[in-house]
Amino acid sequence: MNMSAEVVARSPGRVNLIGDHTDYTGGMVLPMAIDRYTTIAAQPLDAAIQLTSADQPIELHCALPVVDPTSTMPAWGRYVTGVAALLNVERGFSGSVSTTLPLGGGLSSSAALELSTALMLCAVNDLPALTSLELAQLCRIAEHLATGVPCGIMDQLTCASGVAGSALLIDCHSLQVSPIEIPNDVNIYVQFIAHRQLASSAYSDRVTQCAQAEQHIGPLRLAEVGSVRNIADEVLQRRALHVVSENERVRRATVALALQDMTTFGQLMNESHQSLRDNFEVSTNQMDEAVRNAQQTAGVFGARMTGGGFGGCIVIVADSTANMNNLDGATLVKPVGGAKLVN
Ligand code: GLA
Repeated sequence: MNMSAEVVARSPGRVNLIGDHTDYTGGMVLPMAIDRYTTIAAQPLDAAIQLTSADQPIELHCALPVVDPTSTMPAWGRYVTGVAALLNVERGFSGSVSTTLPLGGGLSSSAALELSTALMLCAVNDLPALTSLELAQLCRIAEHLATGVPCGIMDQLTCASGVAGSALLIDCHSLQVSPIEIPNDVNIYVQFIAHRQLASSAYSDRVTQCAQAEQHIGPLRLAEVGSVRNIADEVLQRRALHVVSENERVRRATVALALQDMTTFGQLMNESHQSLRDNFEVSTNQMDEAVRNAQQTAGVFGARMTGGGFGGCIVIVADSTANMNNLDGATLVKPVGGAKLVN
C-alpha cells in the first residue's frame, strides 16, 4: 500500500426490529443496518495508530503490535486496539474518526467503530479481504476484549452484512443471514431515550442466567414454551420464557414482514417489548413510557425497546400517514448495505 494514500473505511450502525437477548444463546434476530455511519479516514503509519475523534476530547496514540488492549487509554480506543491485537498487525494508520450514530445509544456505534478499524487495518497491511462473517466474528471478540461484555454476534454481523432495503433474519446458531425486504411504504424510526453503557449494566448477568436456564432444559434455541415450566427458579424461568417466546416471535414476524402483514408484525413488536420489560427486565420506565406513547400514535404498527436495553433507543414501525411530531426526536432510518472501504 502506498504510504501517502488516504483510506476511508465506513460502517453503518444497526437497529433491531425484533429479537433481543436471543443472539448469545444462538437464537433468532431480525435487525437491519441503518443509514448512520462511523467513518475512519486515515493514511498508513508504521508501528502505531494515531486517531483523533470528532466526539472525544483525547486522541488515541498506541504502539503496534498491541499487547494488552484492556489497558488502552483513552478507554474509547479499546475498540480500536482490541481489533488491532486480534489482527496482530504492525502497520497502523494516522487519521480521524467521526460518526453520525449516537454514542452509547444502543445503535451499535461500538460495532461500527470495530468494523471500520478492521477494514482499515486489513487495507493498510495489504491483508486479504475478510468475508462479512469473518469480520463480524473478529469484531465480536474485539468487543469482548475491549469492554468485557460477553455480547452476541448480532451487532457486528448486521453492520458487516447489511442489505439496502432489507432487514436481515439471522440465525445466530447457523449464522445464516437471510435478507427480508421491507415494503416501500413502511417507515422505521428510532427515538433516542438515554445514554447507557452495557459494561456497567446487568447485561452479563442476563447472559449467565440464560446459561443457568440451559442447564435445566437444554439449549434455549431448541426449547418450547411448555418446557420452561420445568425450571424451578422463578427468575430463571422468566428469563427463559423471554428467550424462547422471543425466538418464536422473530419467526412469526419474519413471515408477517414477507407477507407485508404489518399489523401482525407490529403486534409482535409490542409483545416483544412487554416480554423484555416483564420477563427479561432490561427496559426502563423512560423507555416504557416512550414505547407506550409511540404505540398510541395513529399509523404506528408497533414499537419496542431495541438492543441491549437499560437505556438506548426505541424502534417504531409505522405507515406513511403517521404523524411523528409528538414523539420527541423520533428520526427516520433506512436499511442500507454493510461496512466497506469507500475509496
Ligand atoms: C447488545 C449486544 C448484542 C445483543 C443485544 C440484545 O446490543 O451487543 O449482542 O445481545 O444487546 O439483543
